[in-house]
Amino acid sequence: MTGGQAPGILALGAYVPQRVLRNEDFEAYLDTSDEWIVTRTGIRERRIAAEDEYTSQLAFKAVEDLLGRHPGALEGVDGVIVATNTPDALFPDTAALVQARFGIPGFAYDLLAGCPGWLYALAQAHAMVEAGLAHKVLVVGAEALSKILDWNDRATAVLFGDAGGAAVVGRVREGFGFKSFVLGADGTGAKELYHACVAPRLPDGTSMRNRLYMNGREVFKFAVRVMNTATLEAIEKAGLRPEDIKVFVPHQANLRIIDAARERLGLPWERVVVNVDRYGNTSTASIPLALKEAVDEGRIREGDHVLLVSFGAGLTWAAAVITWGGA
Ligand code: ACO
Repeated sequence: MTGGQAPGILALGAYVPQRVLRNEDFEAYLDTSDEWIVTRTGIRERRIAAEDEYTSQLAFKAVEDLLGRHPGALEGVDGVIVATNTPDALFPDTAALVQARFGIPGFAYDLLAGCPGWLYALAQAHAMVEAGLAHKVLVVGAEALSKILDWNDRATAVLFGDAGGAAVVGRVREGFGFKSFVLGADGTGAKELYHACVAPRLPDGTSMRNRLYMNGREVFKFAVRVMNTATLEAIEKAGLRPEDIKVFVPHQANLRIIDAARERLGLPWERVVVNVDRYGNTSTASIPLALKEAVDEGRIREGDHVLLVSFGAGLTWAAAVITWGGA
């Protein structure tokens, strides 16, 4: 990446719905247990959107939180990207709804790339600012996954939650900001994780339903592999070594996957942000939510090298290194 004033994160916000669903709540109607869920995933509870609360509302609340912390942060924003797997509608794009709500000029589009969508969107915002296409970009990750789950499928129902996160990307002071991005996809794994939309089947003939399906075992193996390769690649591209990473913010899907990546990087738990126990997998909202909590708790300081990584449906993956601060 080029030197000088690189793009970075100027402001951050997040939101989780009020309703808490605990592991014990599944025991009443599914053949599962709190013990199984905690041991296999690290998840204890998750937040569930209200009946009439959809992705657009979660996105609005995340942006309102951002504005509460950083009044005026939307001034000079030239467009909105909403990364989501659960848009309110096929069209209009959810980003257009966010644009209208906050009166943002410029472009608005949704980005679909599985759980790493928010990191993909950060990379696009970074590139737009670098190329002079935008001064600042609002990048939202929001999911109402509870609306697309099969609540009778114990292999998926217990894993996911709802949330929203938002960041403003723009130029920061010299020495700060994004240091590297790694984006990847392997579409041969499409059949491992899907939800139908317009077509009833994948090109390989796999028939799909209008509910989330996941082959957990295959996605697990894939996740452990790409979390290792993508993080090491992002660190190397940033000109750093694993020990230079002060804070590691991995996609919050499964504590065992996070632990495998942590061990491979040789990082102590104190440097790893974990909130999967409280929110489960919130897909594109996962990283901005964890990042915001870590900033609030004072765990991320100016000048810290922060490593982000995610994986998901596609199959896709993404990683980034950012030197925090400089706003
Ligand atoms: N409670 C009790 N038993 C269960 C449950 C449950 N909630 N879910 C599955 N089981 C059973 C299975 O049926 C299986 O039984 P069997 O041996 O009789 O067939 C047994 O537990 C073991 O199943 P595995 O799938 O081997 O269990 P594993 O240890 O792999 O854990 C899990 C399953 C948690 C889903 C894991 O594979 C995983 O985390 N995978 C990755 C998921 C993920 O991170 N996805 C993120 C991408 S999401 C996105 O992009 C939208």
